[in-house]
Amino acid sequence: MNLDLNGANALVEGLKDAAAKATGVETIVAPPFTLLAAVAEAVKGSRIRCAAQNVHWAESGAFTGECAAASLKELGVDAAIIGHSERRQFFGETDKTVHDRLAAALKVGLLPIVCVGESLDERESQQTWRVLETQLKGALDGFAPVDLSMLVIAYEPVWAIGTGKTASPAQAQEAHLFIRKQVASLYSDALAQGMRILYGGSVKADNIDELMSQPDVDGALVGGASLKVDGFSRIIGFKVPAAN
Ligand code: PGA
Repeated sequence: MNLDLNGANALVEGLKDAAAKATGVETIVAPPFTLLAAVAEAVKGSRIRCAAQNVHWAESGAFTGECAAASLKELGVDAAIIGHSERRQFFGETDKTVHDRLAAALKVGLLPIVCVGESLDERESQQTWRVLETQLKGALDGFAPVDLSMLVIAYEPVWAIGTGKTASPAQAQEAHLFIRKQVASLYSDALAQGMRILYGGSVKADNIDELMSQPDVDGALVGGASLKVDGFSRIIGFKVPAAN
């Protein structure tokens, strides 16, 4: 729930250059619902695409305050974040509603970015793997592998979101590999290998290179540091040392 119309327009304008230069990198911005129409228009003709921060599971109907997948598509939105920890924490999101939102997104061809991650308590009580397994199984239950070919997973340890505490590159790598293995065992190696797994939680210009140099970190879901042109441009243009 950041930025006003002028701020959002200025941000995407300022990011176009970095996105154009970063060939091989997909840049997506996810403004609040109220700014989606304007931002989807503003990114037309650029290498930036637009995501919603949520999507409802029903095609239409009496769901006051929600937004249907087809109406997002109609605005020119290409992707949707699903199951962000703030939705889980503050708005009653469950693995079942994540699953249903995912189904709705896939049905209209919105690129789904499904978030999973453990809280600090869960990490400290050695429950990280159990939590990730439960969230993944709940979200991905019953789909056919072919349905999930567009799926993007974001690993977002709740203790790292907006706290300035980033998971170490090794912690991120360990969790990403675990997620990839889970998807391989639920579906197939081919799906798991082709699937992009993003890391989120205090990603910044000064830690992106190290995170992206991990073999199973395929991208980032960036909150606070995405709000400034310079910092986000540096993240889009991350550099992985040649040795990796
Ligand atoms: P942060 O947020 O980058 O500010 O930690 C991440 C997120 O909200 O997904």
